[in-house]
Amino acid sequence: MMKPIVDLVAGARPNFMKLAPVVRAVREDARLDARIVHTGQHYDEAMNDVFFAELGIPAPDFHLEVGSGSHGTQTARILERYEAHLLKNRPDATVVFGDVNSTVACALAAVKLGVGVAHVEAGLRSFDRSMPEEINRLLTDAVADLLLVSEESGRTNLRREGVPDEKVRLVGNVMIDTLLSQLAAARERKAAAHLGLPEHEYGLVTLHRPSNVDEPEALGRLVDLLGELARRLPLVFPVHPRTRAAADRAGFGERLRGARDGLMCVGPLPYLDTLSLLQGAAVVLTDSGGLQEESSVLGVPCLTLRENTERPVTVALGTSRLVGNDPDRIRAAFQQVMGRDWPRGCEIPLWDGHAGQRVATELAAWLTGRPS
Ligand code: UD1
Repeated sequence: MMKPIVDLVAGARPNFMKLAPVVRAVREDARLDARIVHTGQHYDEAMNDVFFAELGIPAPDFHLEVGSGSHGTQTARILERYEAHLLKNRPDATVVFGDVNSTVACALAAVKLGVGVAHVEAGLRSFDRSMPEEINRLLTDAVADLLLVSEESGRTNLRREGVPDEKVRLVGNVMIDTLLSQLAAARERKAAAHLGLPEHEYGLVTLHRPSNVDEPEALGRLVDLLGELARRLPLVFPVHPRTRAAADRAGFGERLRGARDGLMCVGPLPYLDTLSLLQGAAVVLTDSGGLQEESSVLGVPCLTLRENTERPVTVALGTSRLVGNDPDRIRAAFQQVMGRDWPRGCEIPLWDGHAGQRVATELAAWLTGRPS
């Protein structure tokens, strides 16, 4: 009998850490065949190739080469090209990850052609519709047939939206599979030592959300604050291309280049270097969803520079606290961390390094009609 073929679709940097354990588990499962489809949403070597190489992800079987564009343009281009791919190479199911434009576009192309859709990291909600990712999450979950959830809140949210329980499975967090499998190699990298920083005597910063970086005044205030905090604790800041472009447009791009008074700005880092810096950091300041999760698992205090999070378990059980982007609030939270007055966090259910296998098991049961 022919095995069902699944397309595993990835496009942007945070997809790659989620894709890696799922590719491995699906390829190990004798009941399934998998193909990797890369949309090309992220294309720079530092945002893309480096992750495939470090995480041992096989080269994509198909590449749609869509590149950057406005949301409408980028989403439309992915939709058009993935539909053309489906018409020529129809799989039995499409698996999409996370909440990026590639996720919603490929889910939509598939469902319209009657191809089943599975969503890894379904059900997360920030309840903030000004975030492009929230729109992508809502639309993807509305058309998905199998909703694979990383934390309990996902199940609650989907139930509230009327998604039948039979479609939903709590499988845990695939990104944490990658973290746990790469942690020893990341420690070996000694990324902090290469920057001349002793372990636990520096902080790590990332910023790329439109709400923090697209508005020049908000970004300027944050950059001023980082400069101030870095005089007390050196801060390593790998600058995302979006943030770099916004700072250049606003006329203070120079402040995000090189090292000055403790603020060390570098380009986007490979996965292992980021994890290396993260595991040895005294504090993280970030607006990234992935870093909230990773800090929680590693027990590193995380100041989340947002007013909301779609990952509430990182606040309930983990080390993340929402501090928005107001300098006074961030300064106060930073002070608390420096005074060692911060929750240490505890274990999060099913963030155990085996979520990829659970995804493969659920996919196989769904596509072969046989429970695992
Ligand atoms: C995307 C995701 C976001 C995710 C983030 C991680 C959406 C809506 N957003 O945001 O959820 O957290 O990826 O990085 O899908 N650029 C480059 N090189 C690249 C890719 C992008 O220079 O390889 C620049 C381009 O100027 C581009 C800009 O970054 O216009 C934004 O890229 P885009 O993919 O639109 O969104 P991100 O901000 O990266």
